[in-house]
Amino acid sequence: MLELKGIGYTVREADGELGILNDISLTIDDHRLVVFTGPNGGGKTTLAKIIMGLVKPTSGRILWNGQDITDLGITERAKLGISYGFQQPPRFKGLTVRSLLTIASGDGKLSKDRCCQYLTKVGLCANDYLDREVDVSLSGGEVKRIEIASILARGSELMIFDEPEAGIDLWSFARLTETFEQIHAEGRATMIIISHQERIISLADEVVVVGDGEIRHRGSAQEILPKILADTTSICPVLTKGGVSK
Ligand SMILES: Nc1ncnc2c1ncn2[C@@H]1O[C@H](COP(=O)(O)OP(=O)(O)OP(=O)(O)O)[C@@H](O)[C@H]1O
Ligand SMILES: [Mg+2]
Repeated sequence: MLELKGIGYTVREADGELGILNDISLTIDDHRLVVFTGPNGGGKTTLAKIIMGLVKPTSGRILWNGQDITDLGITERAKLGISYGFQQPPRFKGLTVRSLLTIASGDGKLSKDRCCQYLTKVGLCANDYLDREVDVSLSGGEVKRIEIASILARGSELMIFDEPEAGIDLWSFARLTETFEQIHAEGRATMIIISHQERIISLADEVVVVGDGEIRHRGSAQEILPKILADTTSICPVLTKGGVSK
């Protein structure tokens, strides 16, 4: 179980302090699929990075399976079973796709078949990619899919995907969505997926709308999605303080 208790994040700027996240409290039970959505700049990525330990909150505590992990670094959190896929994944010159998957899996002798299975889940053919380097020669969509495959290979207990749909073609996106559905159905992991995609939001047990650094609304996909889709004004009703008004 993941518990966020009063998470705040403020940065110091030349003309004072800037609040990015304000008093976020949220509990996510095991094996749930939770989607964070909301407007650009709302604070979703910052919150995900705080859970992974890439950003340190200025207030609040984070508990994972009852343990306070607020002061733990990324490596320690990874060992406790938490993984995060960047919105814009880094590239690793000199590292092949096969090595990346092998390191991620923790299995020094990861077979070609296993690599192939992970790559297939994100719509890539192993023969074309295993010996490629994860460098600038890969397209944005390719590097994104390879990073998602590496998270699958890691087999973490808590997987956080930051806009997995970004830059991914429709065919691979369909394959990826099936993969999320499958992991969820098998109860293999807790997943937090940051997404703006209707197809992914519809998979969620719970949708959390983050706007202006706060949780603006929480509810089932069935409850929230129609409200988002029906809204044709510039102000989304689920972002209105106090929740859905229509
Ligand atoms: N270190 C920082 N210094 C100043 N501003 C920051 C810092 N980190 C984040 N921000 C700002 O905080 C806000 C939230 O950013 P964040 O990346 O979390 O948004 P997001 O919800 O993921 O947006 P998107 O949907 O565009 O990915 C943005 O306005 C961003 O510019
Ligand atoms: Mg983001």
